[in-house]
Amino acid sequence: MRAASQGRVGLVPTMGALHDGHLTLMREARKECDLLVCSLFVNPTQFGPNEDFGKYPRDETRDSEMASSVGVDVLFAPNVDEVYGGNTTSVLVKGVSDLWEGALRPGHFDGVATVVCKLFNMVGANVAYFGLKDLQQCAVVRRIVHDLNMRIELRFSDTVRESDGLAMSSRNAYLSSEDRSRAPLIYQTLSKCFDALRQAKSPQETLQILHAGKTILEDEEFAVDYFALVDSNTMEPKDIPGTGDSIIVAARLGKTRLIDNIQLVY
Ligand code: PAF
Repeated sequence: MRAASQGRVGLVPTMGALHDGHLTLMREARKECDLLVCSLFVNPTQFGPNEDFGKYPRDETRDSEMASSVGVDVLFAPNVDEVYGGNTTSVLVKGVSDLWEGALRPGHFDGVATVVCKLFNMVGANVAYFGLKDLQQCAVVRRIVHDLNMRIELRFSDTVRESDGLAMSSRNAYLSSEDRSRAPLIYQTLSKCFDALRQAKSPQETLQILHAGKTILEDEEFAVDYFALVDSNTMEPKDIPGTGDSIIVAARLGKTRLIDNIQLVY
């Protein structure tokens, strides 16, 4: 695609089930690229055996209409064989992928890292766009591009939220109406902790604030996988907040697992 276009090729990698978060990335990309490619591939290697690969929402017609409405030139929707047929290579990113999502979803980031590298190369992208809702994914991709000396620029965009604060995600479609009405508590709690952490001066205070945030969610029957303060680049836990650090959360509401984060700015 790069050779054919003779210009700047932008890639927005997605698994489909597009929403406004994806469209925001595409609109940003449209301004900067000559050829804009959106990949649509539900990547089997990033799903664990008991995860939702089979039921992940798929509607290529709707996705294609949405993508062209914001000026995408090419919808790249390969099948599994086209992406992986006969392959025995995978990309393993140590360190940044070890904790949080990486610990709870073994193999997830190996799948993400491998497919991201493949998509970059298959498309011949000069620049790729990712949403910061998946903060650890962004850190992993940044690490890959650095460590493998890849000649691609990366752009990371703020999380796009519903009017009540819920981070947009294709998986929000799984929420029952009752759980949907409770889900905004995640961002409300992150925002509360964000304010409190700005005043925190000691590791004890930080831990208390994070513990209080987790408790707010647990009291409302969220099953919290983690609620932590991390360095946004290394994903290592922090006990004294600094600018650019993020509070990250993963919590299950019924059968739906939601993740979100907020970045500290002083
Ligand atoms: O964020 C996603 O939708 C996926 O993890 C990605 C980057 C498209 C890789 O499959």
